[in-house]
This record gives sequence, C-alpha cells and structure tokens, in this order.
Amino acid sequence: HYLGLDLGTSSLKALVIDENQTPLATATVPLTVERPHFGWSEQDPASWLTACDAVIAELRARHPGVVEAVVGIGLSGHMHGATILGADDAVLRPCILWNDTRSHEEAAELDDDEARAITGNIVFPGFTAPKLLWVARNEPQIFAQVRRVLLPKDYLRLWLTGEAVSEMSDAAGTSWLDIGARDWSPAMLERTGLTLDHMPQLVEGTEVSGTLRPEIAARWGLPSGVVVAGGGGDNAASACGVGVTRPGTGFLSLGTSGVLFTASAGYDPVPETALHTFCHAIPGLWHQMGVTLSAAGSIEWLSQLLKEKPGDLTAAVGDDLQAPGRLLFLPYLSGERTPHNDSAVRGAFVGLQADTTREEMTRAVMEGVAFSIRDCLDAAPDAAWVRQLIAVGAGSRSHLWLKMMASVLETPVALPAAGDFGAAFGAARLGLCAATGADPASVMTDPPVSARYEPETALVEAFAAAHHRYQAIYPALKEAARR
Ligand code: XUL
Repeated sequence: HYLGLDLGTSSLKALVIDENQTPLATATVPLTVERPHFGWSEQDPASWLTACDAVIAELRARHPGVVEAVVGIGLSGHMHGATILGADDAVLRPCILWNDTRSHEEAAELDDDEARAITGNIVFPGFTAPKLLWVARNEPQIFAQVRRVLLPKDYLRLWLTGEAVSEMSDAAGTSWLDIGARDWSPAMLERTGLTLDHMPQLVEGTEVSGTLRPEIAARWGLPSGVVVAGGGGDNAASACGVGVTRPGTGFLSLGTSGVLFTASAGYDPVPETALHTFCHAIPGLWHQMGVTLSAAGSIEWLSQLLKEKPGDLTAAVGDDLQAPGRLLFLPYLSGERTPHNDSAVRGAFVGLQADTTREEMTRAVMEGVAFSIRDCLDAAPDAAWVRQLIAVGAGSRSHLWLKMMASVLETPVALPAAGDFGAAFGAARLGLCAATGADPASVMTDPPVSARYEPETALVEAFAAAHHRYQAIYPALKEAARR
C-alpha cells in the first residue's frame, strides 16, 4: 500500500491506496491558522506533527491492517511557507504561511529583473524569500540563529525521516530556486542573507528522499525501510492526482480561489502577466499556473448576501447555457493575481438596472469568474496546446458553470467521476513511484470522466465579446482603488 499525506492549510489529510491505486482509507485532522496581526497568517509546525500522528491513529483504528501494509509514502503541502529552524533543528518561530502578506515591501524590493530572470516569476509577498528578509529586519535576534529554512511539508519530512530534503515543485515557490536549472540559486539566497548551507538537498518528486525513522515506523505498526518520496507542492501533487503530467494537459480548480494549471515540457516563463512558472513534481517537466483569487469564493459571497446556499443559488439559474446578458461582474473581491498582480483592486457589478434579478446577478458572477480564468488561460503560452481541462473543486458541481467555462475558454472541460483525485491521491502516486521505480507516465493516468462539456460554437463569439467588455473595465477599477 501507498500513503499520501497532504498538509493543507485547514487540515491534514491521509489517503491509502493499494497497488492498483484503489483508495482504501482516508482520514483528516483539522489544523488552525493564527492571525495575530493584520496581514499575518501563521501555523505552529508542532501542530503538523501532532496532526500526523493523530491521522494515522484514526486510520489504524477505523481500517485495521491498511496502514500496516504501507511501503511508500508521498508528501504534499501548502506551498511557500517559511519554517525557520535553529541549532538542532529547533523551530525558532511560527511558520509564516503562503497567504501572509506582511512582507509586501520586501517582496517588491526583491522583485527586479535579476530575480525574474533566475526564478521565472514575480517575487510575490506570499513567497518564501521575502519572508526571510522580513525576519532579518524585524526579528534580527531570530534571524541570527537561522540554520535552515524548510517548506511546510519538508518539515514534516524532517520529522518522518530525519532528512532535510525538498523537491523541485515546492522549492520553485521560494524565489530561491533557479527554476530552469532545477537548482538553488546562490545569488537569490545571498539577497536574503542566506547561503546554500541553509537549504535542504533537492530531489525530484518521484525520487526517494529518505526512509521512515524506526521510532515512527514502530509507533505506526510499519516495517523498517518504508520509503518517503519527494512528493510535491499541493498544486503539482493535485496535477499528479488527475493525470496532468504530460504537455498539453491541464486542470481547472474552482475552489475559493480558481487555478488554471497546465503541464509543459519546457521552461517558458512569462512573469509580467503574474503567471506562475514552476517545476512539476515529475522529472524534466514544468508547469504554469494562473490564479484568480475569488472563484467559488465569489459565489459564496453572493450567496451569503442573498441568504441562500451556494448550491441553491446556482441551481436557480438552471443548467442551460445562454448568451451572456448586459450585466458584468468582476470578481476582484480580494484583489487579483493573474494577470494583474493587483492586491488593491476590488470587484464590481457593471450594468445593474432597476429590474435586475438575483438570477441575472448569479449568472453574471459565474460569467465573471469564467472571464477571469480566460485571462489566466490567455496569459499561459501553453494554452494553445491544451486539449481539455479537468475540472476539480467545489464549483465543478455546477454543470452550467462547466458548460460556461468550456465556451468561454474555448476548450473542452471534463468532470471526473466521483472519487478522490486530489493532492493526497497525487502524493500517494508519487510514493508509489518512489517505492517501486514505476514510470510516472504509467502511474499518473487520467481519472475516469463522468461528463465532458464542449464549447458551444453558437455562443463562443457572444462570450468573447462580453469578455472584451469585461476587460475594458479593469483600468477604471484600478484607478478607483487608488486613494
Ligand atoms: C500556490 C498557493 C496556494 C498554496 C496553498 O501558489 O499559494 O495554492 O499552495 O494551498
């Protein structure tokens, strides 16, 4: 059996699969996020270890014999977090998470031509390097003790195996990696007062990073020699879960935020559009990712306002795709990442009239999110090769939304059959590759699909015209957000 561990922001999930990749057992344990000051978002690394022991104990209690047969483990986790360790790998302060914005000034300072040339990306405030610069300036007594900086799932690995190791897909989100070369950049490290000595070893996501420590193996009832794979950042691991591991494949995630993820054979960065270009968790592969910050989050906002459940709101507009109306919605409720990289801009309804209905508003919100994802698609050089997008996340339950996405993105959208194809499953697949040496191409297969939506030729042009009207509004919103 193979175990996938996905360290999420709000919970740690464990999933065990057998050698045929059939899911056998799953459990989750909640985690909390501390927000002690405006813009701060932190987690106590000790809570990950406690949660990991708890999730395994729960699996063992509910599914006797399933965990005990595990021979390979894969790790996935929320990206970009700074876990700062001192002598003897003692945690020096709470982990600064991906959605912590305190280091925005340090990020802006690091984000220059050199940084973009080496890392292929804008240095975002959420990324790891600016966080260390913030610590150096604001907590110098802590910075003076730093011996190592690890990403969240890599700290879990240190505890599991005793090895300080990272892998390419998560390391790509630090602003310390030369993403084309798949290696740490001494120049970027130096800009934050660090050296190669502070960084863990690098492996590919499918490679062995270490073996489970005997104490933990004994506690979990496992034999010695259980292999821990490199694993992947949560987005790359999710891609492994839905078979987005060949050039020309992609997925569309409609969670609170929306992600358009494509796999690429080469390294072709376009930082100016705020597209992320990262290493994939598979050797020799990169990926690109556009992020819209309020996707299903926009529907959640409207449903709270109208006092309806999100599913009722979207059900009320039916399943028939219609040409877009006059009303437009721009989903910048929390600012926008791709393509604007604008944390100050806010959203808007444009074209409200005296008889606008809630159904029209719901439809406009769904269309606006589809347009924001079209902007992500247009930012990605890979887009032209994408033959179909696999839909994941809560928003993929709306058939209308998926039909709309297909027509707005001019790309077929496929909905996986019910099942568990998320980051924990992808991590388990990486564990399987590391433990058996199996070819990732034969392991990372496509999920069974329950529905496939084609673009509706008769409506594509009307959606493209509405998208142009939508794009014309952003400059005014940007101006309006200036105070
Ligand atoms: C990726 C990102 C998030 C985190 C948390 O750039 O910020 O997806 O990985 O899930």
